[in-house]
Amino acid sequence: MIQEIIPYAYLLAAVLLIVGMKNLGSPKTAPRGNQIAATGMAVAIIATLVMNEVVSFTVIIAGVVVGSAIGAVLATRIQMTAMPQMVALLNGFGGGASALVATAELLNYVRADSEPTGIVPLAIVLGVLIGAITFTGSLIAFGKLQELVTGAAVTYPGQQIVNGLLAITTIALGVLVVMDPLVLGPYWGLIAMGLLLGVLLVIPIGGADMPVVISLLNSYSGLAACATGFVLGNAGLVISGSLVGASGIILTKIMCDAMNRSLANVLFGAFGAAEASGGGGGGVETRTAKGYTPEDAAVIFSNARTCIVVPGYGMAVAQAQHAVRELSDELGTHGIRVKFAIHPVAGRMPGHMNVLLAEADVPYEDLIEMEEINSEFPETDVALVIGANDVVNPDARTDKGSPIYGMPILDVDRSQHVFVIKRSMNPGFAGVQNPLFFNDNTMMIFGDAKGVVLKLVEAIRDLA
Ligand code: TAP
Repeated sequence: MIQEIIPYAYLLAAVLLIVGMKNLGSPKTAPRGNQIAATGMAVAIIATLVMNEVVSFTVIIAGVVVGSAIGAVLATRIQMTAMPQMVALLNGFGGGASALVATAELLNYVRADSEPTGIVPLAIVLGVLIGAITFTGSLIAFGKLQELVTGAAVTYPGQQIVNGLLAITTIALGVLVVMDPLVLGPYWGLIAMGLLLGVLLVIPIGGADMPVVISLLNSYSGLAACATGFVLGNAGLVISGSLVGASGIILTKIMCDAMNRSLANVLFGAFGAAEASGGGGGGVETRTAKGYTPEDAAVIFSNARTCIVVPGYGMAVAQAQHAVRELSDELGTHGIRVKFAIHPVAGRMPGHMNVLLAEADVPYEDLIEMEEINSEFPETDVALVIGANDVVNPDARTDKGSPIYGMPILDVDRSQHVFVIKRSMNPGFAGVQNPLFFNDNTMMIFGDAKGVVLKLVEAIRDLA
């Protein structure tokens, strides 16, 4: 009886996962989306455990206890700024798990001396290959972001040719496995090639492009799980794997579009090298940027009616979100309408600014997407840029020689006054100079974002 219910349980799990993902689309409904999706995953796990294919619960329980303990410690200790690395590791483990399951299944066939049929041999090849690439590729991505290996793009002459030859060899090995799955030699070769390709495909990509690569590897981990679902004949795994695969690739596309770069340019363009060399487009800036104090800025605020806050990576580094919320409240008590402009790739991971501001209880309705808020800058008294740089660089609109030319930006320079809080004149992620800092209507306030924002709150209070 229970065995007959299992397919329906997987169907329910799939529906819950899809509804959960739909809810993740807006910051307001995202916490509920997480809970719905987690419930879906719980249903899928329970359905799997009650299947009569389970051989030993001891190993499963031991795995769950050890895995949950490590996961809980990592999740509670991880800094918000290190989240991309954590996601990279999780993707890698997901890919590795798929490769192991596909291998275990094949060994079962070998042991029983029964040849897998239908789509299963191809699914085994895809599961193990994509899983192995995801595993080592994600470890390299983790290493680059954690600065365990060099973040620079590692390139050498003939690199694409070497990778191309390895890819052809891999396909040949895959064909051999599909033709005769019970001969294990080509299979071990396939695993070795997958592991090697994962490393070689990620090392030429600069550390700065890792968030996009991680999103792509996330998609791969889903595809590997989906293939493994076909190997096991498990509908739950097929559905959840394809959901991860599809959403990962959509997210990758959104990130590429927001940076005005193609995926091929991210994967093969060695963009991180530009960051390492500090190169940029355009001529050398001859104007000097003017430094001001929070007290100077408070005087301007005393005559302002509207303010748009533009948070960026520096706000995350400084963990300034609570101070920013305090500032927004203080400005509100002075009759200043405050909104937050959210650039799709501000920070280092999708939704980075939304998550931080939600943590500080900034109302969702005050977070406005780039397309919507850009028309408001010309009517705004103060644009307050907090640790953002590339996403407000006007060169992206005008300088064809700039590496970020064409990237849509927040038009803060069109506001009446622009305050920029950052520690120095150092460039941001793209490694290029920002002419905004030298404009007549820009006031630079140098210092750590949290400290400066708190001083600004005090200075505005003192003026009252
Ligand atoms: P960035 O252009 O990276 O600039 C961040 C600025 O924050 C830096 O110039 C830095 O200047 C400042 N900063 C760092 N620590 C600070 C602190 N403690 N206090 C104050 N300021 C601090 O950031 P952005 O404008 O958010 O742009 C994001 C970039 O990342 C874009 O180029 C985007 O394409 C890229 N990217 C984003 C994603 C996602 S999904 N978000 C994915 C891939 C790539 P100082 O050192 O002078 O302080």
